[in-house]
Amino acid sequence: MLAGKRILLVIGGGIAAYKALDLIRRLRERGAGVRCILTEGAQRFVTPLAAAALSGERAHTDLFDRDDEAEIGHIRLAREADLVIVAPATANLMARMAGGLADDLASTVLLATRLPILIAPAMNPAMWEHSATRRNLETLRRDGVAVIGPNAGAMAEPESGSGRLAEPLEIVAAAEALLGGAAPRSVPLVKPHGPGPLAGKRVLVTSGPTHEPIDPVRYIANRSSGRQGHAIARAAAEAGAKVTLVSGPVAIPAPPGVAMVEVETAHDMLDAVEAALPADIAVFAAAVSDWRVAAPAHGKIKKAGAAPALALIENPDILATVARRTAGRPGLVVGFAAETENVVENARAKLARKGCDLIVANDVTPDLGVMGGGDNTVHLVTADRIETWPTLDKDEVARRLIARLADMAGGERP
Ligand code: C5P
Repeated sequence: MLAGKRILLVIGGGIAAYKALDLIRRLRERGAGVRCILTEGAQRFVTPLAAAALSGERAHTDLFDRDDEAEIGHIRLAREADLVIVAPATANLMARMAGGLADDLASTVLLATRLPILIAPAMNPAMWEHSATRRNLETLRRDGVAVIGPNAGAMAEPESGSGRLAEPLEIVAAAEALLGGAAPRSVPLVKPHGPGPLAGKRVLVTSGPTHEPIDPVRYIANRSSGRQGHAIARAAAEAGAKVTLVSGPVAIPAPPGVAMVEVETAHDMLDAVEAALPADIAVFAAAVSDWRVAAPAHGKIKKAGAAPALALIENPDILATVARRTAGRPGLVVGFAAETENVVENARAKLARKGCDLIVANDVTPDLGVMGGGDNTVHLVTADRIETWPTLDKDEVARRLIARLADMAGGERP
């Protein structure tokens, strides 16, 4: 979608400016050409040299730069692209855009351009919530400017609330949607006001692998890292939910603000899940071992003699057990389907078989590096719809999924 497209990236002066450098990289990875303008404030956080090195083109800073004006000029800058992205869009830059000011290169180009504009606001939560910023945002929206983010969550500021720059891949996805002609996403992924879209909700998440003992020192396991499940628990907590995370053995820490119950086997996981109910939303992201050893040895099995034959029996299906409850079933039950072939068809069958409301299906063919890796390409499968998301990192999959579940829990179906 972005291959061969030209993006004019206006970098505003905020601490999040460093993420604009990653955004350049992400856009270029997808084949887009990127030309940068840095405001004076931006240059206090990142250098024109860094932007130039990453974009492969000279970065522009001055309205009255003789070289610039001779070579390219602000009007050409405003024309020679397919899309303008402003990231981070500071409160000041948004105000200048909304007011039609043209007092530096960035604002002049933004006023002179007829190209579609996508802004990614980032600022202190109090500034974001200030009525002046709300007015400016409304004006910009009315002017046809698309907005991505900001998100809630940890920032350089000690205050909590919304104001964090959308992740570079979210900005990329919004740019792709705009260039593809889709309606721009003009709502933040996490609502900017109030206590969060899942405030007052209880969310249960399973994560990680299970370990099924063969004897006291050996076990059957799988390659799940727990990253996706933990990211979902974290995103749910950031959205204001009370979260219980039931996790098999993993090497990553419990996300902040989440109650974690550590388990080993599928049986332990089922017990912990039942103990954690009731919940409004349950997301089963654990890679539960389908089988366990029927009779684990009490002592370590000795190597002497013939190799032992391990008889396996099936483990309880935790997801199906919870989804089929008649009393105390969570309002929304979400399963995962890790497949290596016929991903979507298998997910549809699984949705019906397990009785859940939504399946997040992903292709775990080893070459793709999903198991244990950072990125994930998922399809959301419900009884009447399939939606494929672009490849995103697992934190972003988690945040989008939580935003979607918050909508569904609020009565909207995807
Ligand atoms: O049947 P399959 O293992 O492919 O189903 C995957 C989904 O079911 C995941 O959401 C997983 O967490 C859940 N599951 C479970 N208990 C099992 C097996 C799978 O909760 N024993």
